[in-house]
Amino acid sequence: MGILMDRQDRHLTVDDLEMLCIPKRYYMATLDNVTKSKDVKEKLRSYVESVVNGRAAGAGLLIRGETSTGKTYAACSVLKRLRAYVTGFSGLFLDSTMISEDFLRAEFMGEGVRNMERIVDVELLVLDDIGSEKKFEQERIFEIFKQRCNNLKRTIITTNLLKEDDFIKHFGIYGKKFYDMVSGCCLTVEFPDTNLRTSLEADRLEKEIIQG
Ligand SMILES: Nc1ncnc2c1ncn2[C@@H]1O[C@H](COP(=O)(O)OP(=O)(O)OP(=O)(O)O)[C@@H](O)[C@H]1O
Ligand SMILES: [Mg+2]
Repeated sequence: MGILMDRQDRHLTVDDLEMLCIPKRYYMATLDNVTKSKDVKEKLRSYVESVVNGRAAGAGLLIRGETSTGKTYAACSVLKRLRAYVTGFSGLFLDSTMISEDFLRAEFMGEGVRNMERIVDVELLVLDDIGSEKKFEQERIFEIFKQRCNNLKRTIITTNLLKEDDFIKHFGIYGKKFYDMVSGCCLTVEFPDTNLRTSLEADRLEKEIIQG
C-alpha cells in the first residue's frame, strides 16, 4: 500500500461520527478489519487512496451482496477512514429508507442547512441499502444520485439488488437510466456470501449475556 495509507490516521471523536451520521452499531468499523476477502479489502483500500489523491473525480462505489455480508460496515469504514485522513473531509451516511419529504426539508444538525442541500453537497455520500425503500424514496434516490453524479460528487451505494435486472425491476421507469449511471460512476465491489449478522452477532450477544 502507498505511503499515504501508512501514515497515522487522526483519531475520530464522537462529534466526527455524529457529523458523518454513522449509526452507533458501526462506530467501531475499520478498514483494517473489514471483510476477510483480500480482493474486496484491496478494492476498498485502493478506492480510499484514489480519493485521498484526488484521482477519478466523482467516482463512487457500488457495494453489493447478500444480506448481512458486511456492506454497511464496509461503507462506514471508508467514510471513517477518509474523515480521519483528510482534514475537513465532509461525508454523510444516509439510510435510504429514511428519505421522507419531511426529512429532506428538515435542517441538518441545527446548521441552517437543509438535509437535501447537505446530501447533494457533501464530498462523499453513502446511500445505504437501496432496494429496501418505497416509491417516494426511490424517486428521490435517483434524483440525488443524478445530481451528485453530474456534479462529479462521490457516492457509495450499498444494496442487496445483485443483478442489473433486479435493479431495473426495483426502480421501474428510472431503472435502466439509473443502473447505467451507477455503472458509469461507480466501481463495483461484490461482497462474498458469508452471513456475518447471525454468526458474529450471536457470538457477541452470548458473550455479553454470559458475562452479565
Ligand atoms: N468486518 C467486520 N467485523 C466485525 N463485525 C462486522 C464486520 N462486518 C460486519 N460486521 C457486523 O455484522 C453485521 C452485518 O453487517 P452489515 O450490517 O454491514 O451487513 P450488510 O451486508 O449491510 O447487511 P444488509 O444487507 O442487511 O444491510 C453487523 O452487525 C456488523 O456490525
Ligand atoms: Mg446494510
